[in-house]
Amino acid sequence: MPSIAPATESPDTTRQRKVDVLLDVLRNRRTTNAHFANRPLDESHVRTILEAASYAPSHFNSQPWRFVLVRSEARRKELGKIAGDSMKLVMQKGNFWKRYLKYFRFSKEETDKSGDGIHIDNMPLILRPFIQYLFSEKGGEVMNKLRVPYILAIDSKKLVASSPLILGVLLSKEEYKKGELSGMYSMLALGMAIENIWITANALGVGVQFISLPMEAGGEQWQKCVEMIAPPENFELIALFRLGYTDPGAKRPTIDWSSNQRKDISTYCFDETFGNGWVPKS
Ligand SMILES: Cc1cc2nc3c(=O)[nH]c(=O)nc-3n(C[C@H](O)[C@H](O)[C@H](O)COP(=O)(O)O)c2cc1C
Repeated sequence: MPSIAPATESPDTTRQRKVDVLLDVLRNRRTTNAHFANRPLDESHVRTILEAASYAPSHFNSQPWRFVLVRSEARRKELGKIAGDSMKLVMQKGNFWKRYLKYFRFSKEETDKSGDGIHIDNMPLILRPFIQYLFSEKGGEVMNKLRVPYILAIDSKKLVASSPLILGVLLSKEEYKKGELSGMYSMLALGMAIENIWITANALGVGVQFISLPMEAGGEQWQKCVEMIAPPENFELIALFRLGYTDPGAKRPTIDWSSNQRKDISTYCFDETFGNGWVPKS
């Protein structure tokens, strides 16, 4: 193993350099909405990414997570179809907009002001004049008329089907018991394992996107995913992700968003008691 520190470097400088690298990786972690490069993932990269999951903390080192790798083309296509069908169902039902409307932003001014949410910053020219109306509580019907659900469904289907790896993320039901502390502990642990996966993947040039549509559609669509992953009785499928090498030249999805903005530290950290403004001393 080559040493990363020059022989003359002080321990403080070495530490700072490691922190700088770590923060750079954390700051640059992103969701990849676009298509990935059309090539499979190197096995060594897949292994590195999944080993990174195991370094996450878990209560009593229980490591309650399991991962299922879906790479066969036929099965990825099947999951793509489920994602596309789910998108159509979710859009047509209309409750998606109502539930998440508070997170939709339509201009940079809005994102700068709130520091959160997703900025819908890419859509066909024909839809642009109606953007704010479309993504409103009443816009669902117009969206259906303009066939927006179909546009989104085709995009979702292709995005999922063409991803080299779909990752099923599971938890042991011995730990993941709703309403019990171990349920909360195991979900926290899984979140940390997923973050390890995500940042290691991004550092390797591998993009990650959460596939929540089948669970948003619920019922039959999610059940189809569960059947494909086929967990035993004592494990529960929690989520699906798609992974692949990022492609800087990839076209953005027809309707797309970005969300790089973050809240200022003074708005989410408090001094001693909640709500008491904290001003970091430099
Ligand atoms: C629990 C959870 C669910 C998410 N669901 C989706 C999703 O369905 N589709 C998607 O593209 N991103 C999804 N995301 C990603 C977020 O939209 C994203 O992390 C956020 O907008 C910040 O953007 P960034 O990841 O690029 O920093 C999800 C993230 C989390 C933690």
